[in-house]
Amino acid sequence: MSNPVYLALDVPQLEPAKALVEKVKAHIGGVKLGLEFFCAHGAHGVHEIAHCGLPIFLDLKFHDIPNTVAAAMQAIHVYEPAIVTVHAAGGRAMMEDAKAAAAAGTKVVAVTMLTSLDANDLTSTGVYGSAETQVMRLAELAHAAGLDGIVCSGQEVGMVKKAWKDGYFVVPGLRPTGGGTGDQKRVVTPRAARDNGASVLVIGRPIARAEDPEAAARAIEATL
Ligand code: C5P
Repeated sequence: MSNPVYLALDVPQLEPAKALVEKVKAHIGGVKLGLEFFCAHGAHGVHEIAHCGLPIFLDLKFHDIPNTVAAAMQAIHVYEPAIVTVHAAGGRAMMEDAKAAAAAGTKVVAVTMLTSLDANDLTSTGVYGSAETQVMRLAELAHAAGLDGIVCSGQEVGMVKKAWKDGYFVVPGLRPTGGGTGDQKRVVTPRAARDNGASVLVIGRPIARAEDPEAAARAIEATL
């Protein structure tokens, strides 16, 4: 089985980001580039990181009218991303068109609800009912729209997988045993997330901020 760990490259400068990837690339399965990286370094930055030869996950969280999202999806074919995210809240037609416009080898995965939103935030955006209900509703919508899977926590992935057996599940918020938790509150180990059905393990700071990132990545790999 290939290594499911995608390094979240939340590093503001390009050269240190490239150096980090070079250091750990033998012990990870791919690299996740988010909005911050993409806005700062654009096409050049993505190509520079892609030179490492690992699959690229573009975490751009598209959310717009279907036509615009489909056009954006076509525009990123050039990067040959392994994974791309869209917001499930964009609706069924948007997700269907995003999937139709994605390259054949690209997994299109939905963000259901941002974990930064609490119950009050939900109500103030017109969503009544619990966060769990909303996550499950949006997961079902993503499934019905033909997406490959969703982003979810290590605690939710087992439950979601029961309802969506062949789904592709991207799990962030992971912490190896013994590490600090940073600002992640509901942490799960990479091994537990994988055992519960995660397809991709997104790991940032436990590798990027480790004293020896290569040793940290190797240690995580050894637990899988
Ligand atoms: O450094 P850390 O391992 O916490 O990084 C996790 C990555 O996953 C970051 O890029 C973060 O933005 C992303 N993420 C998350 N929690 C979510 C969704 C995405 O930590 N609920």
